[in-house]
Amino acid sequence: MELGRLIFGGLLLLWLVSGIARCAELKECVFPAIYNFGDSNSDTGGISAAFEPIRAPYGDGFFHKPAGRDSDGRLIIDFIAEKLKLPYLSAYLNSLGTEYRHGANFATGGSTIRRQNETIYEYGISPFALDMQIVQFNQFKARTNELYRQAKTPSERSKLPVPEEFAKALYTFDIGQNDLSVGFRKMNFDQLRAAMPDIVNQLASAVQNIYQQGGRAFWIHNTGPIGCLPVNLFYKHNLPVGYLDPYGCVNDQNEMAKEFNRQLKDRVIKLKTELPQAAITYVDVYSAKYGLISNAKKEGFDDGLKICCGYHVNDTHIWCGNKANVDGKEVYGGSCENLSKAISWDGVHYAEAANQWVANRILNGSLSDPTIPITQACYRH
Ligand SMILES: *[C@@H]1O[C@H](CO)[C@@H](O)[C@H](O)[C@H]1NC(C)=O
Ligand SMILES: *[C@@H]1O[C@H](CO)[C@@H](O)[C@H](O)[C@H]1NC(C)=O
Ligand SMILES: *[C@@H]1O[C@H](CO)[C@@H](O)[C@H](O)[C@H]1NC(C)=O
Ligand SMILES: *[C@@H]1O[C@H](CO)[C@@H](O)[C@H](O)[C@H]1NC(C)=O
Repeated sequence: MELGRLIFGGLLLLWLVSGIARCAELKECVFPAIYNFGDSNSDTGGISAAFEPIRAPYGDGFFHKPAGRDSDGRLIIDFIAEKLKLPYLSAYLNSLGTEYRHGANFATGGSTIRRQNETIYEYGISPFALDMQIVQFNQFKARTNELYRQAKTPSERSKLPVPEEFAKALYTFDIGQNDLSVGFRKMNFDQLRAAMPDIVNQLASAVQNIYQQGGRAFWIHNTGPIGCLPVNLFYKHNLPVGYLDPYGCVNDQNEMAKEFNRQLKDRVIKLKTELPQAAITYVDVYSAKYGLISNAKKEGFDDGLKICCGYHVNDTHIWCGNKANVDGKEVYGGSCENLSKAISWDGVHYAEAANQWVANRILNGSLSDPTIPITQACYRH
């Protein structure tokens, strides 16, 4: 008995020590570049360049000018770039002042995974669905490779991605939220649930496409608690009991986001067997965002349903940066006093402080599968 316990204890110790040694062996990955695909949660200037510029006070809090981002400052993708000691990503669609040596950003505000048959002028859905972002990446890779080979001087080359580095880059995805919002608009919950496998499969196809071209490290965000976006409560009155959770989030919408996330996680597990050399990390952004909203006060933030920028009183909604007439007076949808306490920036998008809080939770791996920090996301588990 005693001997058994001793042996068991010894084995346990050995296992612990070897575990620690295994972890210590994992050096930090050297990611020379980031290629990102997504929607407004990670757009660093794409839709703003392709259509109308995003106006002040967007960007005021950090960049001190509009910076093509739907926030007062940095997005999670910017904190990822900082963590990996890389420059902020330029949008592929931006034709001025760009820098692609260390990656490019194909995300655009309003993007969906699946193609939508409506224009951006109707409900703000981007024409650059995920399949088109992948086509743009393919073109970017082919053209920069060609330009790199043709470059005559090191200084010409230094502005371009190094062709070999596409295989060592980190490929990040944050998309799906708008497939849900289109779904809420056009389908009932059963129809949307039935569409979910196709939506998730198309995201998986994008990953497969990049893998076939040599990409190996993938960092895939799940979708956030869409039912907690304050916009979902506009013009809603006399809600039935149980429509909202204790934090004011729409229960059914969050359930749908969780269903998307369950299926995405399963699909990612399957992808790992389909792509034998891929290191794929599934990142539970939902839990991070919901964790912030459900603990807002304790974490030093304003209520998650409070909108920092814009004028939203009763049923009058003036979006962030817009002006309108209210009872004969011109009202400007300006920003709140203390940006560092804001969770929702404009009713749809998160404020920088919230993005930073979420980034701090997800980048160390505590909400990932496998549970490895982003700095080790090049290792297959
Ligand atoms: C767009 O798609 C919806 C269903 O997703 C369909 O009902 C509608 O007819 C389509 N419209 C056009 C113009 O194709
Ligand atoms: C908003 O609605 C509340 C309750 O109906 C009312 O008391 C308040 O005056 C309204 N505020 C404005 C600015 O209209
Ligand atoms: C803004 O909020 C932060 C976090 O609660 C606080 O530390 C800071 O003092 C506040 N700033 C102002 C000007 O109130
Ligand atoms: C990751 O960071 C969060 C927030 O700072 C912390 O609560 C958590 O314990 C950290 N987890 C790990 C594995 O380091």
